[in-house]
Amino acid sequence: MVTPPDNTVDATGPARRAELLDARRDDAIERAAQIIRAGGLVAFPTETVYGLGALGLDPLACARIFEAKRRPHFDPLILHVADVSQVDAVGHMGPTALILAGHFWPGPLTLVLPRRAVVPDIVTSGLETVAVRVPAHPVAHRLLEAVGTPVAAPSANPFGRLSPTTAEHVAAGLGDRIDAILDGGPADRGLESTIIDVTGDTPTLLRAGAIAVEDIEALLGRVIDRRLSSSRPAAPGQLDAHYAPSTPLLLGEPGATADLDAAGLLTLTRGKDDDRFAVVEELSDSGDLRQAATRFFAALHRLDERGLDVIYARPLPETGLGVAIMDRLRRAVSMTRR
Ligand code: TXA
Ligand code: MG
Repeated sequence: MVTPPDNTVDATGPARRAELLDARRDDAIERAAQIIRAGGLVAFPTETVYGLGALGLDPLACARIFEAKRRPHFDPLILHVADVSQVDAVGHMGPTALILAGHFWPGPLTLVLPRRAVVPDIVTSGLETVAVRVPAHPVAHRLLEAVGTPVAAPSANPFGRLSPTTAEHVAAGLGDRIDAILDGGPADRGLESTIIDVTGDTPTLLRAGAIAVEDIEALLGRVIDRRLSSSRPAAPGQLDAHYAPSTPLLLGEPGATADLDAAGLLTLTRGKDDDRFAVVEELSDSGDLRQAATRFFAALHRLDERGLDVIYARPLPETGLGVAIMDRLRRAVSMTRR
């Protein structure tokens, strides 16, 4: 086992600043890969959100992910690989997996597969299944190729908090707890991958995400099961409380007499009375849910930075990517209610 780089965070060690690597520079990808190969932690862009990468087949490197995020160990990690040909080494691709992979990979789809023995228990939380994804982002792809083996990567945020869609979000949340941040600009999809469990007889949606479930059903020619939310996660990680800003968040409209001087609004489209709010984040002036998805986390980050007393989120239509956005809003509300 190679020694991790000097600035690797350990749970007891002093806080350090992550090395900032600009993905447009020639040597940045190789430097990031070198840190990961040595057992360190590097945040990197994907088309969904920024991931916090570590050597996926190395239990010690993966343990550092949990420490840095303060993530509970019952929440398993997704393995990222450069190419579908690398998947077979970690999980078994059945017929449905092959159809979905053929259509949606590289891209924002995660498949839960029967695992191979080589995958460490810390990655799967001891489950007999493993989550795998082939990301489409060119920087992620080059990094995964340079590392050469699967990279475990949860979203690069402290556990339970808003997912990061820029290198700045990562630096604000984890900058003193990880080795490096590979900056490849904003993540363009803005929502995490859609997770489908294909280990049973019927494919099952575990997390609504950047690919609308209707598109998956259309490809497979069948309706798939949904097992989205739980406070008793049968699939660990499908926790009710998640994705929360630090400002209290409410889903719905304020009462008629509410004082809105320190209130923010998150809305799909701006309404005529919305000037009552101190700050308004409109997700898409044309009401386009795809555009809203790409802007969602960044808008919540901005509202969260304003020092407001409360953020009101106006419900969005629950079709297409609206399902995934509403799923995250409900979890965020349940987290801030604690
Ligand atoms: O878009 C994404 O998926 C991003 C980027 C970085 O790839 N990653 C991401 O990872 O969102 P994370 O750890 O924040 O969310 C992964 C989810 C967790 O809710 C976890 O419980 C679930 O995937 N998961 C992982 N392995 C699983 C398994 N074997 N069975 C069921 N759920 C699993
Ligand atoms: Mg996450």
